[in-house]
Amino acid sequence: MQLCVALDLPTKEENLTLVKELESHNDLWLKVGFRAFIRDGHSFLDEIKTVNPNFKIFLDLKLYDIPNTMADAAEEIAHMGVDMFNIHASAGKKAMKTVMLRLEKFKKRPLVLAVTALTSFDYHTFKEIYGADIEEKAKQFALQSYQAGLDGVVCSAYESGMIKHETDSTFLTLTPGIRPFGEKSDDQQRVADIKMAKEERVDIIVVGRPVYKASRPAETVEKILQAL
Ligand code: C5P
Repeated sequence: MQLCVALDLPTKEENLTLVKELESHNDLWLKVGFRAFIRDGHSFLDEIKTVNPNFKIFLDLKLYDIPNTMADAAEEIAHMGVDMFNIHASAGKKAMKTVMLRLEKFKKRPLVLAVTALTSFDYHTFKEIYGADIEEKAKQFALQSYQAGLDGVVCSAYESGMIKHETDSTFLTLTPGIRPFGEKSDDQQRVADIKMAKEERVDIIVVGRPVYKASRPAETVEKILQAL
């Protein structure tokens, strides 16, 4: 299992301070989401790699649009040299296939994951929007992403084991909503700790607030890495 730290701090300077504190960890994923990317753009990604070129960058922009527009965006993302990005599975199988087809021309392309169900949804809200239970829909979205040739999915730890069973063990699961040692859940609904993530065969856990709100983030990361 690998660790991905979410760079969700309010300013670029604070994010870079955190990145520098984590400099010595070569196998770490760093997640750049809407806030940082909208504000700090491509140059922020370069600055991360300057701190440690071995950091792996996950660009969490959750693309959702018509197939051609998604493929255009995916192509631009691939040019930026990030290691992984994501799209919404609910954009449909055709959109996912169009994205993967567009990336075929790249010798080294980023990993592409599909978002199944956001971890902030509770069961009632999810059903209200999608008209189905989370498990049922997550399974359907995961199968469609697998068939479309994606590398894996973003899901909650609660669905990871089932998704591995329905697809194959090499199909990646990345799970946000992780509270490594049972910390408070904030706005996340379906949270899991490291023990559960391991049992559910999660490949990459995403941790935000429990790391960047800790008084010593580097120590927290060290503790998490040891527990993995
Ligand atoms: O602070 P916390 O650990 O809850 O952060 C989780 C991170 O993962 C946030 O950046 C959030 O946007 C992201 N995320 C999520 N649920 C998803 C996909 C991404 O929480 N399904």
